[in-house]
Amino acid sequence: MSLIIKLKDLEHKKAISMHVPGHKNNTIGNLSDVISPDYDLTEIPGLDDLHDPFEVLNDLNIYLGKKKGSYYAQAMVNGTTNGIICSIYAFSETVSHFYIVGEAHKSVYHAVSLVNGTSTLISADELSEVSLENSCVIFTSPSYSGTLIKNIEEKIEFIRQHNGFTIVDAAHGAHLSITKNFPDSLLLSNADVVIESYHKMLPALTMASVLFTRNEDFHHRIMHYINQFETSSPSYLVLASIEYAQEFYNTYDDRLFFGNRRILMNHLKVCGISVQKQDDPAKFILNGSNGPYALERSFREAEIYSEMVTDEGVLWCLPLWHVGDRYLFDELLERLSNLKESSIEDKGNIDVGILEGKVCIENIVPYPPGVPLVLKGDVISTSHLKRIQHYQVNHVKIEGIDYNINYYMKRAEL
Ligand SMILES: Cc1ncc(COP(=O)(O)O)c(C=O)c1O
Repeated sequence: MSLIIKLKDLEHKKAISMHVPGHKNNTIGNLSDVISPDYDLTEIPGLDDLHDPFEVLNDLNIYLGKKKGSYYAQAMVNGTTNGIICSIYAFSETVSHFYIVGEAHKSVYHAVSLVNGTSTLISADELSEVSLENSCVIFTSPSYSGTLIKNIEEKIEFIRQHNGFTIVDAAHGAHLSITKNFPDSLLLSNADVVIESYHKMLPALTMASVLFTRNEDFHHRIMHYINQFETSSPSYLVLASIEYAQEFYNTYDDRLFFGNRRILMNHLKVCGISVQKQDDPAKFILNGSNGPYALERSFREAEIYSEMVTDEGVLWCLPLWHVGDRYLFDELLERLSNLKESSIEDKGNIDVGILEGKVCIENIVPYPPGVPLVLKGDVISTSHLKRIQHYQVNHVKIEGIDYNINYYMKRAEL
């Protein structure tokens, strides 16, 4: 099936989105006001230069910077991935070691490897036990599933006092502090760099992201790499959607959101689906009597698409409902009432046994969430293989697995 036919098919079936991007199939906000092929222009006179902005894109950055006055902002069109890689490149010029706190996105590992840096994976509680002098600590908060690192501002202050630097990957947190009923934005953490994917939870186009830096020197050093890694043909549609999402953020009224959220939560419970709330009120983890993988499948069969499924449950990213949205809320409740039980059929998976004890030659990454399970160069252990087999049974996509198997199969044939 062609991509365009597939996309039209989802539209025709009135697919309901519980996943990113935050505009939920253009039903939240009204991106159609600013997104039209007519506006897909390039850097003609008057439209500025994204990598050395001094006109309208500079104005956009200044506007975005007002989200938290003390930060410099840079709109980006290649996602938070780009911001993470460029920040790690910039810090690698001066720092001697990276600490990765918690479950980091694969781009963190890619960047540390690209700069030939050294890194240690630690928990937030272990920060007081390591040497922070001249290091850079990379936090991920909120996590993919909406968990926030507690008292992160104190941890960041502690690191600063010990002459370390900090990056917060807040890809999933662009909507935080949108009203006083949401948890604090990571911009209040005072980290040296905070990167937010506007596309994930706000109504912005996919890849819309904003890099916030605390001082001008970091800003310039990171811009040096953004200039090298980011496309030199930025999409004005993505850029316009960032401005649109910021306006949405600045004027949001959360009453409908919390009202619908309460109705949805009660309805799910009536339908026999358990709801686990997260620190972020816009995230739910759901479970059913046949387990999360079967539940996700029955949602899918009802044309309700989730963000992710893991052993923990099915992750839903709730829409930022608002007066005048076009989200199919009543239809969602109806489809949930008529949900059919589903099970996971065993399709027979490729045998991964050949990888036992072998050196991993390409990162093995369950996706989503994109948190690496085995890194290139590490030895693949029995417990890794057990996790891989578990993911296979449950049809979780695993990047890098075929490449490793083919490599070792070919060598075995020689
Ligand atoms: C924790 C985390 N950081 C960064 C990213 C990358 O963000 P982007 O899609 O904006 O490049 C993701 C993507 O899912 C993520 O989950």
